[in-house]
Amino acid sequence: MSSLLLLFIFTRISVALNSTTQWLITDIQSMDGSGNNLEHPLWGAAGQPYLRITPVQYGPNQSPTGANRPNARNVSNTLFGQKPFLQNTYGISDFAPAWGVMLHLDLTFAATNSSDPFPIPVSSSDPVFNFPNNPENFIPVFRAGHVGVDVESNMRVIPNAFTPYIDCSGLYGNSIADMNNMRSFIGGKLKSVNSPMGEFPPRVVGGPYNGYFAFNIPNINMMPRV
Ligand SMILES: *[C@@H]1O[C@H](CO)[C@@H](O)[C@H](O)[C@H]1NC(C)=O
Ligand SMILES: *[C@@H]1O[C@H](CO)[C@@H](O)[C@H](O)[C@H]1NC(C)=O
Ligand SMILES: *[C@@H]1O[C@H](CO)[C@@H](O)[C@H](O)[C@H]1NC(C)=O
Repeated sequence: MSSLLLLFIFTRISVALNSTTQWLITDIQSMDGSGNNLEHPLWGAAGQPYLRITPVQYGPNQSPTGANRPNARNVSNTLFGQKPFLQNTYGISDFAPAWGVMLHLDLTFAATNSSDPFPIPVSSSDPVFNFPNNPENFIPVFRAGHVGVDVESNMRVIPNAFTPYIDCSGLYGNSIADMNNMRSFIGGKLKSVNSPMGEFPPRVVGGPYNGYFAFNIPNINMMPRV
């Protein structure tokens, strides 16, 4: 954890290089990303709606459309299902996708709505999702939660639960409560436990999330390389 904190501090300092005085005076970073643009303090704040850069194509009452388009699993398999596995011609290591995941989980997160299922059917020959305990042959997917509806454009208003800044909020949280949940409040350190493999964040014991890191920003569980 301490190396991550160092990375964070280093990033912040390098951004502020040669403007240290200005940084000290103005850099009061809010946890929820608000206040960066003084004229529009909510721009970039967690919980603000995503912008749309393409026309929406919902059906009546913002229902999904596209039933006659190719199946999402097939599109994914066609684009990414390379066999045999290919070496990256640029010699890029695992760090690149790990960094990509890190960026994704830092910048954008739309909460799913477990009451709004949108399952993706898979063929009975699907190599991954057609396993015995998945007799329905679908990938469970849920539509994003929405905070409102724009009736005129027939579109859902979907918030980004995270700040869209590269500010490590995907790890440390998007609110004071998130951040405090990770703090030991001793010497500026994060909560951690020692195990035979080293020092780690505390883990959930029992239940469906047994063994997961017990921070309320779950992203850290998706970024084991971090
Ligand atoms: C830092 O700022 C000073 C004063 O504006 C300037 O003379 C100097 O070249 C800058 N150094 C770098 C590394 O940009
Ligand atoms: C997906 O591809 C498989 C194999 O090509 C095909 O059998 C199946 O019908 C396709 N499913 C859909 C929903 O397009
Ligand atoms: C979640 O889905 C249910 C059922 O479609 C809907 O009534 C509810 O408004 C949705 N909630 C959010 C936050 O999108």
